Amino acid sequence: MNALEIKKLVKHFDGVYAVDNLSLAIEKGKIAAVIGPNGSGKTTLINLISGIVPIDSGVVIINGVGARAIKPYNVPAYGITRTFQEVRLFNQMTVIDNILVVLTERNVFGALFEKHSAHHLKRVEEVLIKVGLWEKRSALAQSLSYGQRKLLEIGRALAMDSEVFLLDEPFAGLFPEMLKIMVAAVKDLRASGKTVVLIEHNMDLIRELADHVVVLDSGKLLAEGKSEEVLSRPEVMEAYLGE
Ligand SMILES: Nc1ncnc2c1ncn2[C@@H]1O[C@H](COP(=O)(O)OP(=O)(O)OP(=O)(O)O)[C@@H](O)[C@H]1O
Ligand SMILES: [Mg+2]
Repeated sequence: MNALEIKKLVKHFDGVYAVDNLSLAIEKGKIAAVIGPNGSGKTTLINLISGIVPIDSGVVIINGVGARAIKPYNVPAYGITRTFQEVRLFNQMTVIDNILVVLTERNVFGALFEKHSAHHLKRVEEVLIKVGLWEKRSALAQSLSYGQRKLLEIGRALAMDSEVFLLDEPFAGLFPEMLKIMVAAVKDLRASGKTVVLIEHNMDLIRELADHVVVLDSGKLLAEGKSEEVLSRPEVMEAYLGE
């Protein structure tokens, strides 16, 4: 079964086709890596699926349900969670509250004043331990290092308990220790039957993690399929790696 299907998706900005008639399918329970040169449309693809940017034409089908106009506030209802290339957090809130906010009202003030159930607090603890931030739970998000911010963002995504996770360069710029935590978190998602679509440039990580690889070039699909197979194609090496 496909967790995600895209049919003839198009998005252009002032004459530039960021996503150009793109069709693809991602199988449930797999990790798919989206690769391609800078500006090839990877982030735009995730923005379209998560409703951050409106679709020009085409359809996104999430867990079998088709959508032409996805609104960001509806995205959790589709069973999708995303992270951003430039991490987005509630900077003035604590680490704990950054996670509670998605577990409760999905509303900043609601999360601050609501009395949290033991169940929610337990879930926050689990997630923060998993991403190595339990010790930092009372710190403000703005005081965290770059890597800790990325881990908090993935922690928040994990807490959402979605079916499909769209991760825009989750590993970029992480030092080895944090990279290990992030890799483990992504593998855990697959182990629990979730689907992950991640954007990544590091070939070693892609080989280690991805079941499926999608290669974009100027918004078009250059290749897709099983990782080893796609990564060994000469045209992929040429377009992407310059080899
Ligand atoms: N909001 C926007 N307004 C105008 N042009 C945009 C916008 N978002 C993306 N683009 C353009 O669309 C194309 C694809 O950009 P996108 O950010 O999706 O690429 P990417 O593959 O994620 O690149 P990178 O690897 O650098 O993150 C680029 O030409 C970019 O300049
Ligand atoms: Mg990008």
